[in-house]
Amino acid sequence: MTTEHPPRWTLVIHGGAGIITRGVLTPEQDAGARAGLTRALEAGGAVLAGGGAAIDAVEAAVRVLEDDAHFNSARGAVLTFEGKVELDAAIMDGRDRSAGAVAGVSAARNPVTLARAVKDCSPHVLLTGAGADTFAREQGVEQAGEDWFVIPERRAQLAAMKESEDWFDVDMKYGTVGAVACDMNGHVAAATSTGGVTGKRWGRVGDSPLIGAGTYADDRACAVSATGSGEFFIRESVGHEIGARVRMLGEPLQVAADAVMAGVAALGGSGGVIVTGSAGEAVWSFTTKGMYRGQVSADGEAKIAIYADEG
Ligand code: GLY
Repeated sequence: MTTEHPPRWTLVIHGGAGIITRGVLTPEQDAGARAGLTRALEAGGAVLAGGGAAIDAVEAAVRVLEDDAHFNSARGAVLTFEGKVELDAAIMDGRDRSAGAVAGVSAARNPVTLARAVKDCSPHVLLTGAGADTFAREQGVEQAGEDWFVIPERRAQLAAMKESEDWFDVDMKYGTVGAVACDMNGHVAAATSTGGVTGKRWGRVGDSPLIGAGTYADDRACAVSATGSGEFFIRESVGHEIGARVRMLGEPLQVAADAVMAGVAALGGSGGVIVTGSAGEAVWSFTTKGMYRGQVSADGEAKIAIYADEG
């Protein structure tokens, strides 16, 4: 039997963009990040290969990256000025544009799963701080504390930042994580999770948990997850802007993603995006020296890359 339109699925992930060059990462950090990306592709890819939904695949992939201290989300998240974790995450389903997000949370082991609970089990889209932590407990979302989230390297980064008096992420080699997917039925979804920026204060929230900025999914267009200097991604409405260009101008994903990243750069920001369309197309675009990234699809081998000059 032949299938006129063979089932096609795609998963793309990122682990952050920034000043990531071969000279910046140790061989151990390079290998560790690649191993984490591989595990995340395996987790999300297994969902899609089994006929599962894009929304479940992006949650599965991001959970793996959240548990991996090589990246700036959940375990291994960067610290606030006060030395705490304040985690942000979002998830969105392109089928009906349902979405859930959390900002400034500190008690759910996997903030992306808490965001999923907001989407599925509350009438709201975005919950913040102590209220969101209470909701997590009420929903039975797995809990974790500082002993799980905080690693010594992040304490050292915070101390270095305070000494340098550069209050905006002294070390951009660890980043936000995210995933976008298209499932066998042509539905797309996106998820993003982050600790934000080192030394953040005053309840600062970046683009990741903001639907239409760092996270967006719409079956009529595409799914987007972003990483980078969040303030600029918010001002450019990156996720929605890419989706709008695809939906209303009919632009190919790469054209739309590159144009919007150029808009971020014009504002003074930097970073990257991963994008999937409902025909299983997948692209990434970034303005930095590197972006932790990976892709797997129904018809190909998994690809992992970090530096700009890799595939
Ligand atoms: N892009 C992540 C943040 O700015 O918080």
